[in-house]
Amino acid sequence: MLAVIGGSGLTQLASLELVERQRRRTPYGEPSAALSFGRISGCPVVFLARHGDDHGIPPHQVNYRANIWALRECGPVGIVAVAAVGSIRANLSPGDLVMPDQIIDYTWGRESTYHEGPERAVRHVDFTEPFDRRLRQRLARAAAAIGIDLAHSAVYAATQGPRLETAAEINRLERDGADVVGMTAMPEAVLARELGVPYAAINVVANYAAGRGDSREGISLEAIHDVLGESMHQVLAVIERLLTSDD
Ligand code: HPA
Repeated sequence: MLAVIGGSGLTQLASLELVERQRRRTPYGEPSAALSFGRISGCPVVFLARHGDDHGIPPHQVNYRANIWALRECGPVGIVAVAAVGSIRANLSPGDLVMPDQIIDYTWGRESTYHEGPERAVRHVDFTEPFDRRLRQRLARAAAAIGIDLAHSAVYAATQGPRLETAAEINRLERDGADVVGMTAMPEAVLARELGVPYAAINVVANYAAGRGDSREGISLEAIHDVLGESMHQVLAVIERLLTSDD
């Protein structure tokens, strides 16, 4: 079974033949929404809407620990996380798809480990490569097989949100080496690593980051919405291909 986490613009999987929805409890509380179990092209998938079914949970209040715990309990071969990002690197434009290979974490105050408290010994997981290499390779092959451009390497800056960044903050992120900016890859990626679940992300570039391109004077939320609507079917096509390819 493959697990898919959907972000802004992907609160349900259109091609999922739904079998059942299950509310789950975890030692860390409830996930953002009920888990949706079903099949895509005959292959089992479990889907979770990161921000809740009605997109009511902002990035800094997502219960990432409950989400990843609940998905892990389904025994998935991996988690594909879909999320919108802003583009910092000039050659990434709204509508482009990116598979990041690195993260810089600027978030704060989020519950970002399972290894704390009296019963769980401190553990320092290796996070040199924050995304699973094999799952990334499989996603790259799936995209190539159906002729969808998926940029293979990008540094993802995880910001706290829910507000967007200032132009000066984006300049700083660029100096730090970031290519795209989003609000959810952390702590999602590290929690999956702690539980040993392969995790990779597909990012949809929703807008130029603050102060860049047509966001020089501000970012239009309507434009973001339109871009996401158009690009999500490409993300779904990649996931479908991943499911049906036998590598
Ligand atoms: N910044 C942070 N997160 C985002 C953006 C952005 O510009 N666009 C979509 N998610």
